[in-house]
Amino acid sequence: MGSDSFINDVIWGLSDPQKHLPSKYFYDEKGSRIFQEIMQMDEYYLPACEREILYKQSQQIANEINHEEFDIIELGAGDGSKTMVFLEEVIKTGKKTTYVPMDISSDILEVNKRQIKQKLPDLTVETLPGDYFYTIKTINSYSRPRLVMFMGSNIGNFPGEKAIEFIRFVNDHLNPGDYFLMGVDLKKNPHVIRAAYNDKKGITKRFNLNLLERINRELKGDFNLKAFEHYGVYNPLEGAALSFLVSMQEQDVHIANHTFHFDKYETIHTEVSQKYSLKDLDQLAIKTGFSWDRHFTDSRGYYSLSLFRK
Ligand code: AVJ
Repeated sequence: MGSDSFINDVIWGLSDPQKHLPSKYFYDEKGSRIFQEIMQMDEYYLPACEREILYKQSQQIANEINHEEFDIIELGAGDGSKTMVFLEEVIKTGKKTTYVPMDISSDILEVNKRQIKQKLPDLTVETLPGDYFYTIKTINSYSRPRLVMFMGSNIGNFPGEKAIEFIRFVNDHLNPGDYFLMGVDLKKNPHVIRAAYNDKKGITKRFNLNLLERINRELKGDFNLKAFEHYGVYNPLEGAALSFLVSMQEQDVHIANHTFHFDKYETIHTEVSQKYSLKDLDQLAIKTGFSWDRHFTDSRGYYSLSLFRK
């Protein structure tokens, strides 16, 4: 990602009366490492739920797909360690598939391919590096039916209407009879959600503050990290977990010839993690042009792998 858009996004976001920064910038090298720590936290239940569903229900999911041969296209696939289980189980059902992992990082896709090939040597893996807003356009060149996967509750980072826009965009690239499988964090006891974004060890705080550190590192900013606190909250009205950085004093911050003033207790909004109910998801499927859906949930009902058919 060019630093041009990073600086523009930062200046634009900090110039708004309610300051905000895009959550996609969390994931530099250090941020990605901290996110790995988040995924190990007791409070952060999401990965365990997704794994449970994949272990127990992948074959059922595969059997819902009305094709004996189909391609599996994964958006933001990462190292593919989570999807491995799914691929293994699909193969067990006797269905034939090709795996097409897409990710912004070509390095991580090499790791992905190596690991998948080690465990499943007969599976064809075709990596597609780049921003999936562009790479998804190339899936039209595959003639087989397809299953597009978007895992890890990444849909949660799209606020409100943006989630609808994104899924419609995916739908636009599918043919009738194709499928979309999405990992979604469900609405639940608000205390459980709140704790997932307010861990005791302060790992989420470090994750959030790394955004300011990254601005200091890459854009030569002068954020005083000690003068900001992490605040995570869940609002049941909206079903949204929101993260903020709070300025604990009145201060000025300089970034590339710009000065940004912070009043005491002024906040920067850094992330939305939207939660859905199964009814919300049925509505979402209809609104985004799918005619059929089915939900696969974990034993606690915390999380869903939702399968939509066009
Ligand atoms: C990677 C977007 C699913 O919103 O739960 C975790 C990111 N932020 N803790 C989420 C995140 C703070 C995560 N997603």
